[in-house]
Amino acid sequence: MSDLLLTGIGELTTNTGDPIPDAAVKVTDGTVVFAGPETDAPQQGGANHIDCQGRAVIPGMVDAHTHLVFEGDRADEFALRMGGPGYQEIAASGGGILSTVRATRAATEEQLFETAARRVRTMIASGTTTVEIKSGYGLDTATEVLLLRVARRIGEELPVTVKTTFLGAHTLPPEYSGDRAGYVDLVIEEMLPAAAPLADYCDVFVEEGAFSVDEARRIFEAAKKHGLAARVHSDQLTRAGGAALAAEIGAASADHLDHATEADADSLARAGVVAVLVPGASYSLRSSQAPGPMLLDHEVTIALATDCNPGTSYFESMGLVISLAVVQMGLTTEQALFAATRGGARSLGLDDHGIIAPGSVGDLVVLDAPAPAHIPYRPGTNLIWKTVKQGVVVASRAASFGR
Ligand code: NIG
Ligand code: FE
Repeated sequence: MSDLLLTGIGELTTNTGDPIPDAAVKVTDGTVVFAGPETDAPQQGGANHIDCQGRAVIPGMVDAHTHLVFEGDRADEFALRMGGPGYQEIAASGGGILSTVRATRAATEEQLFETAARRVRTMIASGTTTVEIKSGYGLDTATEVLLLRVARRIGEELPVTVKTTFLGAHTLPPEYSGDRAGYVDLVIEEMLPAAAPLADYCDVFVEEGAFSVDEARRIFEAAKKHGLAARVHSDQLTRAGGAALAAEIGAASADHLDHATEADADSLARAGVVAVLVPGASYSLRSSQAPGPMLLDHEVTIALATDCNPGTSYFESMGLVISLAVVQMGLTTEQALFAATRGGARSLGLDDHGIIAPGSVGDLVVLDAPAPAHIPYRPGTNLIWKTVKQGVVVASRAASFGR
């Protein structure tokens, strides 16, 4: 039996009620068995013991939207964009997603695993304990399957929970340029059956220049027959109708939503679709943030994610995402923190993740600060002292705070 006891917690965020001051948490065999005031805590016994010295503890972060298996980078494209041409202009001239597809197709499985694993290790050291990973830089059956295999391997070999998403309909590959219907048929008839055993979800980029609502609906209907629920790249660059489709088909999530309206919010709320917001993409594209507060007013559950990808959001830190959500999107720290933990878990159907309560998974983060408000307040500083995965410390940094 393995035990971990945390005491001296200055402020404990459980996501099941108000924050608890002067708290303790005990994890046995990977599961939380106590979370509450330290005065009520069980005896130390033989447990591994960490004195948090007044630091805050929060649930492990759940990054519910990433494209982190890819080769190469697009720093040149980023620099170009900062000087003028827009994302879609660059994509239309053969750059954008397709330049990452070229680099990814040329890489070996080992290379892809190693570069992805490095990103995930950075994420773990930044407080992430669960991550969703999409394919989408293969755009042919063999490479899409390879990307999903790499994503699953990340979950098997690294201390992180992984959910995988098949995103064959990310954009039209060069072999099918001018034959959209042919590619959608390929996705449905060949790619989906091959990818489904390695995927938990199916995603489609619904956007001008990518796929239409009708094409996406066909793909999601086919995915459902393979047991895959939907996540939808929705209304990111234009109001292309992804949110309305997500609500219509009862998707697990509608993601991005920069152009979502109040009517979209009502539909998402009624259908119980989680809105996964990715402020890093809006920041890197210099576009305005998704309407997080409006979605909350309409009682939509929101999640926050990095959208880690080499084009629009090369973010690995959920802390920085929380900061953007507070400073630029207008969420409170409490709303942003909940979205980055419990909200993400809800979008992934992980009911025992994103909370710290008896019976929940022992995934948590000890901040190198006395309160979660320091996360948005001190952007760019890694405020993670320790990341704990199922009761085991999996990342640790030198401290700068402690009483
Ligand atoms: O989420 N929007 C589509 N997909 C990614 C960008 C992919 C890329 O540019 O490589 C996104 O922003
Ligand atoms: Fe994305």
